[in-house]
Amino acid sequence: MKNKWYVGALILGIAIIFIGYYGLNKDSTRINQGKNVAVNSTEMDLRELPIPALLEDMNPKVGISDYYLSVQTGTTNFIEDKLTATMGYNGSYLGPVLKLTRGEEVNMHITNELNDTTSVHWHGLEVNGTEDGGPHQVVGIDTTWEPTFTIDQPAATLWFHPHVIGTTATQVYLGLAGLILIEDENSKSLNLPDEYGVNDIPLIIQDRSFDADGFFIYNDNMMNGVVGDVIIVNGAITPYLDVQQVKMRFRIVNGANASNFNLKLNDHSEFYQIASDGGLLEKPVLSDSLFISPGERAEIIIDFSKFNEGEKIELKSGNKQVMTFRIGGESNDLTTIPETLAKIEPIDESVATGMKTIELDGAGHMVSLNGRKFDMNRIDDNVVLGEVEIWEITANGTMMGKMGHPFHIHGTQFQILSRNGKEPGANEQGWKDTVYIQADETVRIIVKFKNEGVFMYHCHILEHEEAGMMGQLEVKE
Ligand code: C2O
Ligand code: CU
Ligand code: CU
Repeated sequence: MKNKWYVGALILGIAIIFIGYYGLNKDSTRINQGKNVAVNSTEMDLRELPIPALLEDMNPKVGISDYYLSVQTGTTNFIEDKLTATMGYNGSYLGPVLKLTRGEEVNMHITNELNDTTSVHWHGLEVNGTEDGGPHQVVGIDTTWEPTFTIDQPAATLWFHPHVIGTTATQVYLGLAGLILIEDENSKSLNLPDEYGVNDIPLIIQDRSFDADGFFIYNDNMMNGVVGDVIIVNGAITPYLDVQQVKMRFRIVNGANASNFNLKLNDHSEFYQIASDGGLLEKPVLSDSLFISPGERAEIIIDFSKFNEGEKIELKSGNKQVMTFRIGGESNDLTTIPETLAKIEPIDESVATGMKTIELDGAGHMVSLNGRKFDMNRIDDNVVLGEVEIWEITANGTMMGKMGHPFHIHGTQFQILSRNGKEPGANEQGWKDTVYIQADETVRIIVKFKNEGVFMYHCHILEHEEAGMMGQLEVKE
């Protein structure tokens, strides 16, 4: 009798251990907090830059489109023969590109196949609060979210990513992010490089750390948020791209959780920046570097006709490798970089009816916005629909040191008036939805709220956002 009970308990115990072990190993969302192993890209076979697919519109009607996204877990091969547990939209890492036209009516169908809630936020898109995909539009497990909106903003490179309380940072780190390209009459008329995947290339730049088994390491014990050892572009570690001697357009997204990138070519040659977050700049801006903080986008054109066949040009961030361009032969290039790209009406300061100050404080988990932490049940600010406001945003130094914060507002695009009283750089004089505030800096922006509903504004260091450096405003008549 006693024996039988003992054997039963033993079998049960073994079963529990077995299920536990098997369950853990099967955990497709595993991310380690352990020790990183150095991934040395020079020892690795470099990968060709992956180009995310364009998502097919399933509606045959012109001007109305239906797009289907499923949020999934999967495995991705980043390193040698190892597989990394990841997440993606319609695939295992990142997602397809939504190419939309101004005026288009879009029906989205998003099915959550994760074992966790998620949301899909359209970063930079001017839509109403209920379509924004922020923390109030949680997509439950095995459910489908179907927002509908009409594209009503200039040509731009936007992106989408999760925005749920508590898991935004890890879901993005595991791979949930995708691109939105908007075209309009103006952008189509310009003769810029615009053949997607040919001379118009997206670069979603992120950084990651890997453990010895190839799993991601998510180390968030630093004040800056989670920073990785290696840079990955479109889901490949420091890849290469073969280019002809022509002008190439790159749509750059800083999709990192926390890292700023300061992009340069290794020969210090110049390139043109043609767009900021919310669309084309008025004029191309020639520069030999591009600073881009988490959440920001920039479009640049590199003219490869100045290089020789067989040369290798490297794109770097500081001394970190980002990717390599392998220069090929000469080729016919009919594209141009026009002197005027777009007309940007400056928002008139004298029509502003509201004024807000935003103080970004602290580091690590000790962050706050205007002295408090995010509360889902508290509306921090009210705005009247259609009104223009001036916001003064300051990043305060702390005892722990000085740090800057990328500040982002949902559902609108703004203009930068000044940085510490001075005119912003030429590449920051277009439409923006995210602006990097340096330590001890005050940035004044002017913003019009054209869409109704509840919208977030926050630091785009995802670990800061999750630690409460976020507020919400309600726009209504
Ligand atoms: Cu990129 Cu609140 O978002
Ligand atoms: Cu956003
Ligand atoms: Cu921050």
